[in-house]
Amino acid sequence: MNNTAQNPIPVIAIDGPSASGKGTVAQLVAEALGFGYLDSGALYRVVAFAAKQNNIDWGNAEAVAACATKLDIQFKNAQVYLNNTDISEDIRTEEMGKGASQVAVHAPLRAALVDLQHQFRKTPGLVADGRDMGTVIFPDAQLKIFLTASTETRADRRYKQLLGKGLPADYEAILLDLRERDARDQGRASAPLAMAADAILLETDHLTIAQAVDTVLQNFRHKKTQ
Ligand code: DC
Repeated sequence: MNNTAQNPIPVIAIDGPSASGKGTVAQLVAEALGFGYLDSGALYRVVAFAAKQNNIDWGNAEAVAACATKLDIQFKNAQVYLNNTDISEDIRTEEMGKGASQVAVHAPLRAALVDLQHQFRKTPGLVADGRDMGTVIFPDAQLKIFLTASTETRADRRYKQLLGKGLPADYEAILLDLRERDARDQGRASAPLAMAADAILLETDHLTIAQAVDTVLQNFRHKKTQ
């Protein structure tokens, strides 16, 4: 299924690398507009989690894709359910972030998740966050944002986030992991992390979350009046 250019339901596509803060910004933009929210990264995390549960190697493209087609994934009140079990916490670990990045390289899996992502496009609108929202899943999105920050800023944010949760954190290890994940997300053949030609670049190194949210909202209002 492909989205046609005529689809009137607005989509704001927010893509960018890991730990750029796009999830937080996307959720706040969705809240401000009363739109739905798609956390597409959560889908890849759920697949990594389910594959591990079923002893499927994250490197096995066909088995991972077959496993994904059997999953009942539901998002309810910001929680993620797999086969009616709340796995919101389980998929947020560093291990599942790494696993998600590894399963996400497989074209058959990406193809298996396209329709599911399109189903999130409902009135009054959708804010979709991920790596290929503006390039592949919603190429006709009304607004495309590429939200990023330097690797050092992102590592620092993740480091403070972990400490804030009382979890152990090693800045150098986080930096290395982010570099590795960026390289894999950008370097894969299928739907790599890339800025769409018609996307607006939003560098958040020197922006607060509120400023980033405002910038997205201003751009959306501006687009609507064009
Ligand atoms: O946004 P996140 O950290 O939850 O995403 C986890 C991994 O999933 C990320 O490293 C790459 C992959 N991903 C993807 O390939 N395409 C998307 N649209 C979203 C995430």
